[in-house]
Amino acid sequence: MKKIVLLSSNPKVLKEKCVSKGNNPEETFFESKKAFKSEGGVNAERNVPLLLETKEELPDYWKKAELKIPGARAEIVIDYYNRRIKVMDYTGLFEEISRTLESFAKVEEIEKIIVYIPPEKIHEAETCEYAEEGIIRGYYPGKNCHIFSSYPKNFRGISLHKEKEDRIIESCLKMDRGTGKIPQKPENSREKGNWKKQQGKIQLPEEYTVRPSVQADTSAMAILYRQGFQFYPTPIHMESYLLKTMDSNVLYFLVEKQGKIVSLASAEMDPENGSAEITDCLTIPYERGKGLIKELITVLEKELSDRGFQSTYTLCRALSSGINTAFASLGYAFTGRLVNNCRIMGGFEDINIWCKTLGRE
Ligand SMILES: CC(C)(COP(=O)(O)OP(=O)(O)OC[C@H]1O[C@@H](n2cnc3c(N)ncnc32)[C@H](O)[C@@H]1OP(=O)(O)O)[C@@H](O)C(=O)NCCC(=O)NCCS
Repeated sequence: MKKIVLLSSNPKVLKEKCVSKGNNPEETFFESKKAFKSEGGVNAERNVPLLLETKEELPDYWKKAELKIPGARAEIVIDYYNRRIKVMDYTGLFEEISRTLESFAKVEEIEKIIVYIPPEKIHEAETCEYAEEGIIRGYYPGKNCHIFSSYPKNFRGISLHKEKEDRIIESCLKMDRGTGKIPQKPENSREKGNWKKQQGKIQLPEEYTVRPSVQADTSAMAILYRQGFQFYPTPIHMESYLLKTMDSNVLYFLVEKQGKIVSLASAEMDPENGSAEITDCLTIPYERGKGLIKELITVLEKELSDRGFQSTYTLCRALSSGINTAFASLGYAFTGRLVNNCRIMGGFEDINIWCKTLGRE
């Protein structure tokens, strides 16, 4: 087997390394990619043979790959944009996987390693000193998923706004689930639209309609997402990405007012496990606080339930009162916080997890 040094397959990182050594970046990149893609290689730092086979790639964002090393294999996502690696599934020795990923993190500028783990494997992540950050209830059929993280770069593990984020959660948890309202909220604390609520459900006035997004909407959706988020963990500002995901596993819904899109949300479905993530929530600034995102979440839940999904969850910005309040008031349970998890809005932010079992109020 050919001996290779564990080189980066991230062109930016590689260029910096090669230029400093006086090598040709393109040639070395090609060699490195070849070695990781299909041929065997050796992680020279640890002298462990490895194979990294790319399954799917979204250039400049992520690469889904299968990592094979002696005694273990793992399905991983190398998420360059968010400078993290996610281990979605693995078999064999987690210790070996963890060591390999640590070496990998060094050359790929990876700051956070996340592992999605079923309850029976928790001790394996703990042994490798990963810390549990949260749970996604019902992520696997009949089982929870435990999210453990490790931070190859210490600074990435430090939450910068913990106190403010804790206060938002405290206020959400004080809500009266019957009405979805916070008791003793001053009458004039925030101006509300003219919305009727019946048994905790919102009804939109006539000029607003909720419907599934179709291909013809994607151009306007991409523009709204670009205006709404300076950074976002996935390229929802690209029409091609919206079209591709709409055609596969993502349900997009929107609220329209007089033919203009004013609010958006989606559900990323995992039919194999029967769970779905509600995500990509945005309401244009002057339509906020009118119950639009809650309506979209409710409609998505109904659609998911009709399609046989048993549970939903969201990974939402811990610093946004609006989005946390929306999920809390719709009966979601707060189940953890992922520190500096991804680039969203202004930069890397903490992300809260909220979960709900469908079919139960
Ligand atoms: C977060 C966001 C999508 C909420 O959309 P919205 O249509 O205004 O939400 P809703 O009107 O349905 O409000 C949901 C709940 O949050 C409350 N809320 C809304 N904005 C709020 C704010 N700024 N502060 C406190 N509570 C707020 C509402 O009162 C409502 O609570 P209620 O059930 O007690 O009435 C919207 O503010 C937005 O687009 N923000 C920027 C993008 C973003 O951060 N998206 C989240 C990504 S994870």
